[in-house]
Amino acid sequence: MAGITMVTWLGESRFQSLDEPISRVRNLAIIHTLAYFLFLLFFSYLVHLHPYVKLGPLPEHAGDVVNSSRNDPILIYHSSHTSRNKMKALLTGISGQDGYFLSRFLTEKGYEIHGVIRRNSSMSQGTVSLHTKDVRDNITIHYGDLTDANFFSKLLSEEKPDEMYHLAAQSFVGYSFQNPSSTYDVNISGTLNIANAVKDYSPGTKLYFAATSEMFGQPETTPQNEETAFKPRSPYAVSKLAGFWTMKTYREAYDLFICNGILFNHESEVRGPEFVTRKISLGVARIANGSSDPIELGNLDARKDWGYAGDYVEGMWKMLNHETPDDFVLGTGELHTVREFAQFAFERAGFRITWKGSGVDEVGISEDGRVLVKVNKAFFRPLESDNYLADYGKAERELGWKPRTKFGELVKIMVDSDLKESSHSRE
Ligand code: NAP
Ligand code: GDD
Repeated sequence: MAGITMVTWLGESRFQSLDEPISRVRNLAIIHTLAYFLFLLFFSYLVHLHPYVKLGPLPEHAGDVVNSSRNDPILIYHSSHTSRNKMKALLTGISGQDGYFLSRFLTEKGYEIHGVIRRNSSMSQGTVSLHTKDVRDNITIHYGDLTDANFFSKLLSEEKPDEMYHLAAQSFVGYSFQNPSSTYDVNISGTLNIANAVKDYSPGTKLYFAATSEMFGQPETTPQNEETAFKPRSPYAVSKLAGFWTMKTYREAYDLFICNGILFNHESEVRGPEFVTRKISLGVARIANGSSDPIELGNLDARKDWGYAGDYVEGMWKMLNHETPDDFVLGTGELHTVREFAQFAFERAGFRITWKGSGVDEVGISEDGRVLVKVNKAFFRPLESDNYLADYGKAERELGWKPRTKFGELVKIMVDSDLKESSHSRE
C-alpha cells in the first residue's frame, strides 16, 4: 500500500506542478497505480503460484533446468544463451550404443544435439546412421579424437553447450588387457582433455562422465553403492577410476557441475557385436537362420547385473538436471550368468538347450543333439570382475530413477531384433 500511495502522490505532485487540470492528473495517477498493481500481481504469481518456476539469483550454470514435478521443466538461461531457445547437448561417443539412445532421448526432449565422431577411412558413423530422420537431422557432427586437446578446447569455446555427456572410451574390457597403453591414452588423457576444456572454455557446461561398475572389481561388500570401495581388476577399470577421480577433483576444485554415473552393464539391440550379450543374440539369429557353427564363449559362469541401455540414458539426463552435482549408481539389482543369457536367448528363438560337461569342455546342446554353444579359452580374461550387484537406492530416492526393463524382456528385445535383421538380410 505504501508503494501505491507513493506512486499516486508522485503522479499528482509532478503534474500539479505543471499546472494541468486536476482530473487529468488523477487519471494518470490511477493508470500508474494500476500498472504497478499488475506488476505486483505478476511477480507474486511467479514467486508463489506457478509451480514450475523458481525466481531468485540466476542459476550458477548457463541454461539450467529448474527441476519440477513435471516432465517438461522450464528453462532459465544466462544472457549468453538468450539468443537461442533450445538446450544444447554435446555428446562424445555419439556413434556408440549409449550415444544412440541418448541422442534419441534428448531429441524427444527438444535439445539441439552436437556429437563428436573420430574420422575413419570409410566415413562410417556407427549408430548415428541407424537413427530415424528426425533424430539424424537434429545432430551436428564434429570430427575429432579424444586424444586431441586442442580440438576440444576449440569445440567447447565455440559451442558452449548447456550439457555435455562424455561417453567416448575404449570400452572393451578384454581389449584393455591386450592394449593397456592405448586404453589409458583414450580413457585417461582423453577424459582429462574434456575436463580441462570445460574448465577453461565453458565452465557453465554441466558435464556427465561415464564411469562404470567395473571400478568395483571384486568388491568385499554386496550390493555396491556410491560408498563402496573401488578395487579395479582390469586396465579398463583402472583407466575409468582415473577418469572418475579426475572429475570429482575438478568438481570440487573448480566448482564445476560434474556428475559421475557409475553404471552397471547395460545392453541393447545396438550393442557392439563383441560384448557377450550381443555376441549371443547375433549367434542365435545366425543359427536360427541355418548356420551350423556354434557360438564360442569364454567364462559361462561370469555373472553380471544386466539392464537395458534405453533406461539408463534417462538416468544420465536426470543426474545433470539434479539440483547439485553428484555421483550415482545405476543398475538393476539382479544377477544373471552368461549361461542363463544364452539359455534365454536360444529359448526365445525356439531352441531348448541343455548343458553338458564342465569348464572348457562344457557345451550347450539342442534337442536334436547339435552343439549350439561351446567354450573357447581365447575368450577368458586374465582376471574377472565378478559378482557385483547394483544398489541403485540413491538414484531412486534423489532422481526418481529405476530400471524399467527386466532381464527376460532385455533378452527378448535383443534376440527379436537380430532375428528380424537376419531374416531381412536373407531375403
Ligand atoms: P561403445 O558402444 O563402445 O561406444 C564407445 C564410443 O566411444 C564410440 O562412439 C567410439 O567411437 C567412441 N570412441 C572410442 N575411442 C574414441 C576416441 N579416441 N575418440 C573419439 N571417440 C572415441 O560404449 P557404450 O556402451 O555406448 O558406453 C558408453 C560409455 O559408458 C563408455 O565410456 C563405456 O566405457 C561406459 N560404460 C558402459 C557401460 C555399458 O554396459 N554399456 C557400463 C558402464 C560404463 P567409434 O564408433 O569410432 O568406435
Ligand atoms: N565379450 C565377451 N565375449 N565376454 C564374455 C564371453 C565372450 O565370448 N564369454 C564370457 N564372457 C564374460 C566376460 O568375461 C564378462 O565377465 C562378461 O561376459 C561380460 O563381458 P562383456 O560383455 O565384454 O562386458 P564387460 O562386463 O566386460 O564390460 C561391459 O560392461 C562394463 C560395466 O560393468 C562394457 O560395456 C564396459 O564398457 C562397462 O564398463
